[in-house]
Parts: sequence; structure tokens; C-alpha cells
Amino acid sequence: MEFDFDVMVLGLGPVGLVTAVGFAELGHRVLGVDIQVEKVNALKQGKVPFYEPGVEPALQKHLREHRIAFDHDAAPWIPRAEVIFVCVGTPTKPSGEADLSAVRSVVEEVRRHAHGYTLVVEKSTVPVLTARWMEQEFQKVADHDIEVASNPEFLREGSALHDFLHPDRIVLGVRSSRAEHILRNLYRGIETEFLVTDIETAEIIKHASNAFLAMKISFINMIADLCEKTDADVVDVARGMGLDPRIGPSFLRAGLGFGGSCFPKDIRAFQHIGQTLQLDFELLTSILRINEQRIHRFVQHFEEVLGDLKGRTLALLGLSFKPNTDDIREAPSLKVIQALRARGARLHLHDPVAIPNVQKLFPESPPDLIYFEDPYEAIRDADGLGIITEWDLYQTLDLPRVKSLLKRPVVVDGRNIFDPETMLNLGFVYRGMGRGRWLRKKS
Ligand SMILES: NC(=O)c1ccc[n+]([C@@H]2O[C@H](COP(=O)([O-])OP(=O)(O)OC[C@H]3O[C@@H](n4cnc5c(N)ncnc54)[C@H](O)[C@@H]3O)[C@@H](O)[C@H]2O)c1
Repeated sequence: MEFDFDVMVLGLGPVGLVTAVGFAELGHRVLGVDIQVEKVNALKQGKVPFYEPGVEPALQKHLREHRIAFDHDAAPWIPRAEVIFVCVGTPTKPSGEADLSAVRSVVEEVRRHAHGYTLVVEKSTVPVLTARWMEQEFQKVADHDIEVASNPEFLREGSALHDFLHPDRIVLGVRSSRAEHILRNLYRGIETEFLVTDIETAEIIKHASNAFLAMKISFINMIADLCEKTDADVVDVARGMGLDPRIGPSFLRAGLGFGGSCFPKDIRAFQHIGQTLQLDFELLTSILRINEQRIHRFVQHFEEVLGDLKGRTLALLGLSFKPNTDDIREAPSLKVIQALRARGARLHLHDPVAIPNVQKLFPESPPDLIYFEDPYEAIRDADGLGIITEWDLYQTLDLPRVKSLLKRPVVVDGRNIFDPETMLNLGFVYRGMGRGRWLRKKS
């Protein structure tokens, strides 16, 4: 295959693929590489192997216009690359430390094959000082001209391409004006604030941002528990807090807590950095602990209304870790399923796109675990309904119909998507998360 390119992207998960398609949208010619041959073959056919709105049509356009190409082998291309974005996964080791083995193998490949000036850009989320280690590795190559930069990614799955093209900020951690110039040039056309800083600062910005956002979620969830004990309403507390511009309203939504491929793993990695450098990062431990407890609280709500859950049928709506994605990595749904099955409950599960992924972990086994294509069919004859992911689809459910289908009109709303007053007026036994004001009210 012959292909001239401006940018090379290594690793084609949600971040790498969106980076590749995003740079193509900005008019660059992009070569994407992933070691998974099947994934690469699908991408060559214009098929995106995960659910991410808007990416597939953009990919197909750029394939037709020869602005993007894919391969499973980086080696022949690296000598011709001026800029290489590293977008491989950085999962958690059992110790909590970030597993950098994929980054290590990329560094090895670049070391072996780079020719002439090569800018290696960390886009994967990595612990601070990773770039310094990469630089040391590259220095072992005789006559090397390999430079490292950090350009952390802040996109959100579900709106990833939009976020890539309309970011709140672009952080460039660089050691030289040459690297800055190359990166600014690549992002030409995007109007946003560019923060140019040193590499270590850029690495910390990413971990600190994710830890801070997770902290806001755990904070409001801590307050949710207080509201349940004191008949207060966490939604109003959050509104009252969020009107203070120093606090702001976002990420103050109480519920089942955070999941996904980033927050839990990034906080664990950040904790590990703190330990390694002998810093007191206890705050991070509390963020994770509060988040774990959300699952328990959600299950308790069912138990408080229905008693022993053994043999009870519960319909659970929403399995992805958040709406508009089929990603189930560290999704709260998985822990809820485990906890409810351990109590002997029978589960009816629905999600618009994530069922195939969940089925790999929890195969269907009627009557204990059944997947449904239609949320109303999942609800039919259940003893209770639980909302786990706030897909739009569930926010517009026909509630009188839901009530008529349920055996008992019990709703545990893990994402506070329904208005408690409306639910009580319709005759539901309704429980939101942190909505203590409504907890003891009867319909
Ligand atoms: N998913 C998000 O929302 C998000 C947002 C911001 C940052 N990040 C960070 O970006 C990074 C990537 O995230 P992701 O969700 O896309 O990861 P992912 O694990 O879904 O995808 C990584 C891809 O890299 C490939 N890969 C592994 N080793 C490789 C190698 N040597 N050469 C080429 N490809 C290789 C894998 O096959 C896989 O397809 C992570 O560090 C993550 O923390 C993720």
C-alpha cells in the first residue's frame, strides 16, 4: 500500500480513531495503526467497531477521499512519520498502577524504526514522568532525533468527534518551539484556548482534571446520602450549590456514580503516583469508596421496598457506562447485575446498543437473566424497575404504560431522570438517589 501522510496514530480505540478521523476532518492525511488485524480490516471497510455517533460517516468520507488509511503494522511507516500520536490503552494493573506495556511496545517500535526527526506525542492518559522515561529510552538510540510531547485528550465518549473538533482547550506539553509549531499547525482551524506548557504539567493536567470531576460526583453522592437521612432533596441542593459560579452546576448529578474506562482507572493511577512520591492522596481513596457505595445504596432501595429479592424479577434499563456509547468498561450496571443476582433476583435487561457487550460477560440464562430489545417488554410483569443509564429513550418512556406493565409499581431511579412528584401522582412507589424529601411520601 502506498500512502503519503502528515500524521500517524497508533492505537485505534475510541480515542485513536476519533483522533485519526478528527485530523482528517481538519484536512490532514492520516495513517492509523492498530495491532488488532480484525479491527483494522473493519476500519478499511468503513466500519467502526464500537458505537460512537458521527464517526462512521466521517470515516467513510475520508476513506473515499483517500485522506485516511489503516494498517496493523507500524514498522514500515514509522521511518516516514514526522508526528506519531500514541493512543494505546493504559489500563490498571492489580496494584492500581497504570499498565504501560502498550506504551512500552510503541516506544520500542519507534526506537527501532524512526528515521530523522520524529515527534512522539502522548495522547493516552499516562502518569506524570512517563515522557521523561520515554526520552531516556529514545536517548539510548545512537544519533536519535526523536522528541516527545504531551497532548492529553479530553473528549467524552458519546460526543467524541464533536469534542475533538470543539474542545474547551488544547493542552500542549512541549520541550521545543519546533514541537509546539508542529502541533499548533495540526490543530489549525480549531478555535479554542491553547495552553502551552512543559510536558510534566500537561501530564498532570489530565489526571488532575479527571480526579477533580470524579470528586464532584462523589461529593454530591455523599450529600445524596445525607439528604436521604434528613428528608432533603439533593437535586435542589445541587442547584443551590451550582448557582455559585465558583462551584458551577456540572458534574453535580447524584446517582449511581461514575464508571467508564477513564475515571476509575485514572484515579487509581493517580493514587499510585501519590504513593510512589510519598504524598498524601487520601482524598482520592474517599472518591472511589463513595463511588463503590452507590451500588449498595441502589440495591438497598429495592430491598427496602420489596424485602428479600430472591425470586423477584427486576427490569434494569441502561447497561452502558453512560448514554450514547456501547462502552461497558467499569460500568455501574455490571456491579448492579452481580449484586442483584447474588441476592437471587431475576433480571430483565435492556440497553439500546450495549447488550452484545454485556452478553459476553453475562450470557443469557432464562428465567434468571433475559435481554430484551424493547424496554416495555423488559418491564412487563417485573416486580420493580431500575434506571441505571440515563439514555434519552428512558426519559421519554410512557409512564402510565410502564405502570400498567409492572407487576408492582416500584421504580428505583439510579440517575434521577424522573420527577418524583409526577411519579408519586401516577401511583408509583418511587425512589431516586438522594431524594429524601420524597422518600417517605405516599402516592
Ligand atoms: N475513552 C475515553 O473516553 C478517553 C478519553 C480521554 C483519554 N483516554 C485515554 O486514551 C487512551 C486510549 O483510550 P481508548 O479508550 O481509546 O483505549 P482502548 O483500549 O479502547 O484502545 C486502545 C487501542 O490500542 C491498540 N494497541 C495496543 N497496543 C498497540 C500497539 N503497540 N500499536 C498499535 N495499537 C496498539 C489496541 O489494540 C486498542 O485497539 C487511554 O490512555 C485512555 O485513558 C480515553
